[in-house]
Amino acid sequence: MVQQSGTGVALTGCGSAIPAQVLSNHDLSQVVDTSDEWIADRTGIRQRRLADPTTSLSQLAVTAAQSAITMAGIQPIDIDLIILATSSPDDLFGTAAKVQAELGATRAAAFDLTAACSGFVFGLVNAAQFIRTGAYETVLLIGADMLSRWVDWDDRRTCVLFGDGAGAVVLQANEPDRLLGFELRSDGSLNRSLTLSAQPQPKVLTADVIAAQGSYQPIVMDGREVYRFAVQRVPEVIEKALHRAGYSIGQVDWLLLHQANQRILDAIAQRLKIPTEKVISNLANYGNTSAASIPLALDEAVRQGKIRPGDTIAASGFGAGLSWGATLFQWGR
Ligand code: UT7
Repeated sequence: MVQQSGTGVALTGCGSAIPAQVLSNHDLSQVVDTSDEWIADRTGIRQRRLADPTTSLSQLAVTAAQSAITMAGIQPIDIDLIILATSSPDDLFGTAAKVQAELGATRAAAFDLTAACSGFVFGLVNAAQFIRTGAYETVLLIGADMLSRWVDWDDRRTCVLFGDGAGAVVLQANEPDRLLGFELRSDGSLNRSLTLSAQPQPKVLTADVIAAQGSYQPIVMDGREVYRFAVQRVPEVIEKALHRAGYSIGQVDWLLLHQANQRILDAIAQRLKIPTEKVISNLANYGNTSAASIPLALDEAVRQGKIRPGDTIAASGFGAGLSWGATLFQWGR
């Protein structure tokens, strides 16, 4: 750890992990009243990966983190902070510390960050602040979710959308600063559009005191509302991040959006006048992996040699909260 100020940030490594089980659209048509045609036409999704009951979120997070650490050329002991963006932790008290222990990142503080499908972007901005202040030099950011644990498998409007996965990046102090601009937003007045909410039942303790106990209700979503919100609000934050950086749309090499729905990706790209070939998309294979979707798509594109060091990436996450945000960064040192 260094104590200096005015430090820039670079993303120096990435990694990802997916569970082994594949659930195709055809498989899903045996679970709910749906079809490959409906799902592919309306979302672009063809299959998703689902964790079996023996696979924990921390296992996926650790595997993704290990490849990011290797790519960055650092050791777990070098990490000052671990942020785990997730809405489906193994433990509501937090899963980041378990990941810290399993990685052997003994110097690192670790905490979970909950911002649903915006979690990776919120986490990236969060991580960068610790580096920019000079407090920390190396931060590991993981986006991981297993929403298969929380979907209603009888609700065809939602269960066809989600998949499980994890992605990670290493952020390091660097000159020049590669995080060029960002914008984060929330609108809780639309909270009801997408929820995974606690459903407390009364537990009478004494004649005067009633506590509330219970589990969580599966995911409930107003798909059309969230669709409209994403297509309208995401371009705004991307434009704001670009403006802050003094960049124009034409200088963006890659549009890296939360992988929710191909129609949403296409509509946002169209609004921003970004050509299709600059849009990163892998949701056909994984569905919507929530906080994992951006780092999972980033990792695939980097390992395919598509995204190269120095490329400028506009990344945007959006989802429950409602929350949404964008960052503009250059890949690598
Ligand atoms: O990561 C969080 C962010 N979440 C999102 O980005 C999700 C945003 N929303 C969406 O992606 C889309 O709204 C969906 C993919 C969820 C739904 O697509 P849509 O084109 O908005 O469909 P819809 O909800 O308007 O439903 C159209 C029809 C309905 O039937 P009726 O009422 O017209 O007879 C639905 O009941 O499609 C029906 N439907 C289905 N049919 C077959 C809904 N889900 C299914 C299904 N299979 N899985």
